Amino acid sequence: MNRGRFITIEGVEGVGKSTNLTVLETLIKEQGFDVLVTREPGGTATGERVRAILLDKEEEKMTPMTELLLMFAARRQHVEQVIEPALASGVWVISDRFTDSSYAYQGGGRQLGSQTIAELEGYVLGDFSPDLTIVLDLDVSTSLARATSGSEADRFESEHQDFFERVRQVFLDRASGDRYRVIDTGQTIDQVQAEIRQVIEAFCCEL
Ligand code: TYD
Repeated sequence: MNRGRFITIEGVEGVGKSTNLTVLETLIKEQGFDVLVTREPGGTATGERVRAILLDKEEEKMTPMTELLLMFAARRQHVEQVIEPALASGVWVISDRFTDSSYAYQGGGRQLGSQTIAELEGYVLGDFSPDLTIVLDLDVSTSLARATSGSEADRFESEHQDFFERVRQVFLDRASGDRYRVIDTGQTIDQVQAEIRQVIEAFCCEL
């Protein structure tokens, strides 16, 4: 049995992650693979309870380091309970956010810096990391306008524009690495989907 592949999708809120996650799932199924879609923070019963604490606006006093540790606690449970077993059984896993979000939000947004995140990553995950990461990118004013229309803002969505500018910059800086593909979601939906198709077809071709 071939091991599954681990794909993550990342970006600032409002860049179009939800819509494009469905597109990604369909494309991978078209290639003939079984797919499991999951998310962070969350993805397990324990992780979803941690998520509720992390997003709760009443948690005004939570410090950046506590926030980071909760992200990694939920992540460890997610990897052990869900992601690793699925990959081992040949299923492909798509996660809506993973460790790159901790670099971007806690490292950049909360200004804890990348070294702290890297140390924790090494301790909690060893060398486990995604095989492919798709970063959806859009200018912050547009993405925030999209994210905040509709439902009430959570603890992260209540942050200011400069916080999200730092978050976006970390995603873009990290995306110079080999496993990343950046897609500009300021294009039309058709153009974005065509680019995601190209990325997945190229990735599957290399297997
Ligand atoms: P998400 O479910 O993507 O929220 P939305 O659908 O509203 O975009 O993610 C929840 C929030 O958690 C999001 O604001 C980003 C934040 N987050 C971090 O700060 N660090 C992390 O490591 C992860 C995984 C998420």
